[in-house]
Amino acid sequence: MDALIPRPRREVAPGAVHVPGWLSPAGQRELVTACRAWAMGPVPMRHTRLPRGGVMSVRTLGVGWHWRPYAYERTAGDVNGARVPEFPDWLGDLGRRAVTAAYRDPAAGAAYRPDTALVNLYQDGATMGMHQDKDEKSAAPVVSLSIGDTCVFRFGNTATRGKPYTDVELESGDLFVFGGPSRFAFHGVPKVRPGTGEPATGLTSGRLNVTLRVTGLE
Ligand code: SIN
Ligand code: MN
Repeated sequence: MDALIPRPRREVAPGAVHVPGWLSPAGQRELVTACRAWAMGPVPMRHTRLPRGGVMSVRTLGVGWHWRPYAYERTAGDVNGARVPEFPDWLGDLGRRAVTAAYRDPAAGAAYRPDTALVNLYQDGATMGMHQDKDEKSAAPVVSLSIGDTCVFRFGNTATRGKPYTDVELESGDLFVFGGPSRFAFHGVPKVRPGTGEPATGLTSGRLNVTLRVTGLE
């Protein structure tokens, strides 16, 4: 997108805040490097199989906890049975800074204790249907960081998959936090715009999204 057009911070719905360009180019590169290391194993990125036989078009891996439809576990029972990587302290710090920035509330940021990251890689036309993040036993916010190709992020309501919703363009470096009354809102990614990313991030194609969550599990 034209960098001369400013994109201000915006509350899309109560508790759902978009902060454009929040993660610095260096921060984006570090996150790409970390994701690449996690993808080397012990649990590889995979297209998640859904119970009804479908296969998700994004490739996913978990850090701290492994997500499978529709539960979290420490080992990737639907992939290779290996234990997922530990959730690193620096990622928790990043989450606390993100919540502080989105809500302009240092106390809310300091209290945030994410224990899992879901890494999603969108390539070759991958999209994500409207869904709620509701396998967590905590109502703490979800922190979403995007790197690479721009996408259309559809942020809806807590009652239905349909309207009303708002379509937000998430670009590389953008932060989106949803908590409070929007924590269990439906959301999805109907479109990724190929070739809009910046190779300097270390991601030469596609879109990488990392969401931090509090599972509320022991
Ligand atoms: C997700 O809902 O888990 C991912 C959202 C995104 O890719 O922006
Ligand atoms: Mn989600």
